[in-house]
This record gives sequence, C-alpha cells and structure tokens, in this order.
Amino acid sequence: MAEEKNTSAAKGSNHRPLLLFGGVITFVIIALALGLGLGLGLKHHTHSEAAATNPTSPVPSPSPTAPSDASENVHEIQAAPDGVLRPLLVINGQFPGPLIRVNRGDRVLVNVTNQLSNGTALHWHGLYQNGTNWMDGSVGITQRPIPPGASFLYNFTIEGQYGTYWYHSHYSSQYTDGIVGPLIVHAPEEATTQESYDFDQIVLLQDWCHDLSAALMPGYLASGSENTEPVPDNGLIQGTNYFNCSLYADDSGYTCQDNSTRATFEVTEGKRYRLRLINTGAFTEFEFSIDNHTLSVIEADSTLVQPVTVNRLPIHIAQRYSVIIHTNQTSANYWMRAQMITHCFSDDNPVLNPDVQALITYTNTTDEPSDSADWSTALDLVCEDLSPSMLTPALVEIAPPPDKAFRVDISFQIGAYALDRAYINSTTWTAAKVPTLNQAVAGLKADNSTFNVSGLSSAFDKASQFVISIPEYQVIDLLINSLDEGAHPFHLHGHQFWVMASGFGDFDWNSYATLNTTNPMRRDTLTIDAYGWTLIRFRADNPGLWALHCHISWHMESGLLMQFQSRSDILSQWIIPSDVLALCSS
Ligand code: C2O
Repeated sequence: MAEEKNTSAAKGSNHRPLLLFGGVITFVIIALALGLGLGLGLKHHTHSEAAATNPTSPVPSPSPTAPSDASENVHEIQAAPDGVLRPLLVINGQFPGPLIRVNRGDRVLVNVTNQLSNGTALHWHGLYQNGTNWMDGSVGITQRPIPPGASFLYNFTIEGQYGTYWYHSHYSSQYTDGIVGPLIVHAPEEATTQESYDFDQIVLLQDWCHDLSAALMPGYLASGSENTEPVPDNGLIQGTNYFNCSLYADDSGYTCQDNSTRATFEVTEGKRYRLRLINTGAFTEFEFSIDNHTLSVIEADSTLVQPVTVNRLPIHIAQRYSVIIHTNQTSANYWMRAQMITHCFSDDNPVLNPDVQALITYTNTTDEPSDSADWSTALDLVCEDLSPSMLTPALVEIAPPPDKAFRVDISFQIGAYALDRAYINSTTWTAAKVPTLNQAVAGLKADNSTFNVSGLSSAFDKASQFVISIPEYQVIDLLINSLDEGAHPFHLHGHQFWVMASGFGDFDWNSYATLNTTNPMRRDTLTIDAYGWTLIRFRADNPGLWALHCHISWHMESGLLMQFQSRSDILSQWIIPSDVLALCSS
C-alpha cells in the first residue's frame, strides 16, 4: 500500500470529459473445467488489477491537468474471490470494478454494453445528478434496464460535491454478484484535509455468498421464510479473503481452491494513511478496526467531519467512512478487521468466519502477525450507526426550517401469493415497466393534474409505487418509522439529508419545534434502528424521481423502496434524451 503510483486518472481536467470507454458487459460462459483454470488466473488477475486500480495512490493533487481516458468492460465469468468458484459478474474482467477517480466539474462518460443474460443499469451512489436524473441508473425509476446485447452511454457532470462514493448495478440484486466499484471525487477544498495524511487508500468491504443472488432470492421471498435473509458464507476485503475449503464436503457441489489469500496492505512506518472504507455488501454491517491502531474518522458518506477517534467503526451497507491511521507502532504485521455484527443475522451459517481480516504489513511480508491483538472493547450486539452526536460536519450548515413533514411506516408482511414482502405504509415496490420518471414527465406535459398534486401521489400504481410529490422547491422532513425487528440502512438518491433526530417508540411531535438545526450531520445513507424512527430533512431542490430505499439487496428486492417526485415545475419542461427513451422500446 506504500507504493507510489501515478494518479493520472485523478487529473481529469475540469469541464473536459473523462472517458471511460469500451464499457462492454461481456457475457462469457465458461465451462467449469475451463473455469477452474480461468478462475485461478482471473482471480490473480482480478486482485492485481484491483490492487493496481483501487488501493494505493499518494494524495492526488487537486489541481487539474490533462484529461485521461480509460476503458471499461464487463463480463460474467467463473471466479473464486475467496477460493470458492462461482459465477461472477465483473466489469472489464475486474472484481471489484475499476476505480473512477475524477475532479469536481469533470464530465464522466461510461459506455456500458450489456452482454449479460439479464438487463443491467449502473447507479452512481451519492451523486446528485442535478439536471440529469435520467443518468441515475435506477431501474423502474429513471430508466429501463439496458437489455442484453445493447449499449448505453452514461454521460453526466459531477457538480457541487466531492468525497467518497461508489457505483453499482441498480437492477434487482445484481450488484451483490460483483458489479460494484469505487468512485472518488476531488476538489480544491480538500487541500487542508490532505495535509492530515500522506497516502490515500480505498478499502472495499463486503459480505459474500457462494451462490448467485438470483439463485438465493426465491428462497428468501418464499412464504414461511419470514424475512430470513441469506446469511453470508464469507466476507471480502478488497475483493478477496481466505476460506477454509475443508468446511465443504466433497459432495457440497462447490469447487474450492485451497490457495485463497487475504488482502495485504503494505505500509511505511511513521506515515499517515487515509483509508476510504466502502461497504459494498448485500446485507452485513461490519465493525471495522485495525489492531493496535486507532482510527480518526474524518468523513462519513461524502461529508467531511471534525476528526473523532474510535477503536471500532460500524459501517452498514452502502455507507462510506474515511479514517486516518498513523503507522506509529512497532514495525511488524497487524490485522485489519471487518467483523460482522452477527446478531443481526436470522440464522447461523456453519461455514462462516465472521471475523474478516486483511494484513497490514510494515515489513512487506505476508507473515501472520504474532503480536497483533483485537481491541478489548466489546463488539456491538445490535446493528446501528456510529452515534450522529459523534459526527459533526467540518463545514457548518444550518438546517433550514421545514415546509412539510411526512411520516412513513416500514414493515414486512406476508402478502399476496404468500410472499414475504416489505412495505412502505401499504405499498410494496416492484420496478415499474415504464420508469416513473418517464411517466411523470409525460403526465405533466399532458397537463394531467394528478401528477401535480402535493403529497402522496395517486398518479402511479399505488400497490407498487409509493411516491411523494413535491411540485415546487420545499424543505421536506420525513419521519421513517420502523415496525420491523431488523435494522435498515436507508439511502436517498440525489441528495444529502440532515439527520435531525432518532429514537424509539412514538416520535413526540411536541419536540419538533426544538430540534437542533445547527450543523446536524449530513449524509446519504443511514441506519434506521430496529423498531426505531429517524427524522431526516432535505431540500427538495433536485428535479426528478428519486429513490429512498433500504440498501440491503434482499430488502430492496422485496419492496422496501419509495420515491420523491421533485420540482415538477422543471420536470414538465424536460425532454428526456432519446437514448434513454429508446431503452423503453427495446
Ligand atoms: Cu447505492 Cu439506490 O443505491
């Protein structure tokens, strides 16, 4: 990790396009016998690629220089990230996907050619897409899936934001099968922050199953399953981990290669490393720690915060944190740990080792540490966020007074056909055939007034689309109230929200007038506690249809998603680009 690397990709010139071309999602079916060899080869290739693209780079200069080109290809392959062979959906033969590192103001072009057997779409998690809602990549909301064999060009400019983001497929639970990658945006305002570290390093964490998500989904949704999410078989750091093959019997049906390895991060003594943690997983919240090294948290999602020191950092699905570590310990090897909060699993998995590890080496060796000790503080027994009171945005903002407040209840219920479905009030989401964005723009243009009412919209199919319509710019409060026994990491597309308050039981509206509005935490993904509520506030200033959903893959697919329709005054003027509309006719 100490290797200095040219960061040409970071130096895209402002206002000049950064080309990420080729974008082929190539679907290659490889027979198992061949797949074995290829799996090994690709595994190695994959990891060295990932190491070359994702991890190490010195602090990039925020000053813009020449633009750079890159290419992207995506395939389905057989590969063994942790030694167990399985089908994997990959971009450019890489898992995790290639790093996109740009400057604020850059235009990003990613041409995706889908050669999978299913549709796909790429979502840029955390980007505002102000004025380009149709580039948000959410199937059924802002686009139809890119059909197998077809290409689609994502083309957008990143304005008004910088920090740690990621991208992933937003088609069904597809991202959990490999279509994920980091996306970092730089800006000149980072200069002071950059003085507090010497190296900038991405660390991807995710839970891992040894089966395709599509194979696990029917069992999960089946009646009688009662929201029993598939328990992961393993966890990955930087797309790799060790797995003990002897846990699988010969007749298990799995092919396991005994040579799987953990990720290794080389460090130099006496340096400061910014680790950008991204949880790209399906279900599992991790507690991240590094033996003998404290973590100074400086960023949550993409919000820079006043540094706060912790030993362990909880990170739920789709959240990002930057922490700074100081390599000021005895020159040796230490464990980096991403420990699964297994109390949130509804079952046991006998093959799972929930203490996912990677190696931090001062000595450039892969020897197991001899003097590395986990922190003695207990692991969390519940899935919850680092307390918002510990997170104070470095850039002070006052939350504006709200114009409107809404409350939604979330729950799981055995619904029609005895499927276990997730509900926002009484709506359980499924992806609309005609994206809700297209429906809204067409309806507004046709002067269909049902698309222009304020509040819960009746313009869409109510059984599957819970849409709150905010015709003109307003500041919105949303109380998300959970009637469910599980924790849910909720993400709002296209915005950051203020975390105004959270608690258990009934929200006391008498306290509403006295909420702290001075610089509450801002982020885009937060955990709603089991049987808890959280009040978020945001400026509904971004025209479009924006998803708000639980980011646990299984839960989104079972319907835990609602939408905001914002700025209908602008939507009514929109002409959706023809290539986006063309996806609807394919
Ligand atoms: Cu990471 Cu709907 O998004």
